Amino acid sequence: MGSHLDVVDWPVRTERLELRRFAPDDIPRIFAYRSQRSVAEWIGGTTTDPGELAERFGDGPTAVIVEHEGRLIADLMVSVRDAYAQREVAGAATASEAELGWTFDPAYHGQGFATEAIDALFDICFDRLGLHRVVATCFTDNEPSWRLMERVGMRREAHHVKDSLHRDRGWQDSYVYALMADEWRALGP
Ligand SMILES: CC(C)(COP(=O)(O)OP(=O)(O)OC[C@H]1O[C@@H](n2cnc3c(N)ncnc32)[C@H](O)[C@@H]1OP(=O)(O)O)[C@@H](O)C(=O)NCCC(=O)NCCS
Repeated sequence: MGSHLDVVDWPVRTERLELRRFAPDDIPRIFAYRSQRSVAEWIGGTTTDPGELAERFGDGPTAVIVEHEGRLIADLMVSVRDAYAQREVAGAATASEAELGWTFDPAYHGQGFATEAIDALFDICFDRLGLHRVVATCFTDNEPSWRLMERVGMRREAHHVKDSLHRDRGWQDSYVYALMADEWRALGP
């Protein structure tokens, strides 16, 4: 099945990183960090079984892998979708926005790799996929994630109150951040 990411000329290189499509044999490396308790704290679910992880990724239609010096250090999500539109203009809103996600191996936190990878992801989203807007959400207590969003220039658009259920902490607040194509262009290189 086709993916919106098929049109990108992979891999995409930055100063220290290489971004590429997911391949099924990436699963053991992804499992190695996603199965850590600290990594699972705020993401969509715990990972205890590589087979289940492989099933969840499938052939990775929305997954982007980040490598540093040939080592897989993170998996990103770029989930392209239609924006809300009135019927008469629905065609123009088709595949116009993406929800982004990120999970980095803790061994590679604190060195600006996520900042560098998300900057490159914006190039992909706006320049190559021609998107109008990208969004990301997180629990408000996931400070590293929303600080990353602010570092890369995303704007806090919403603070939802107790809308998200955490496996241990119960109902939690969440933030929505977004960045429009013209805002990204205004940020400059
Ligand atoms: C969210 C997440 C990607 C953020 O990672 P991070 O390491 O904080 O982000 P970066 O890689 O951009 O690194 C930024 C840090 O490196 C420092 N840094 C060093 N060199 C840097 C550089 N060249 N550029 C930018 N920052 C740099 C920054 O000062 C910052 O440090 P600080 O946190 O002490 O202020 C990471 O915490 C993660 O993967 N968490 C688990 C999964 C998760 O929760 N995902 C989100 C679900 S919504």
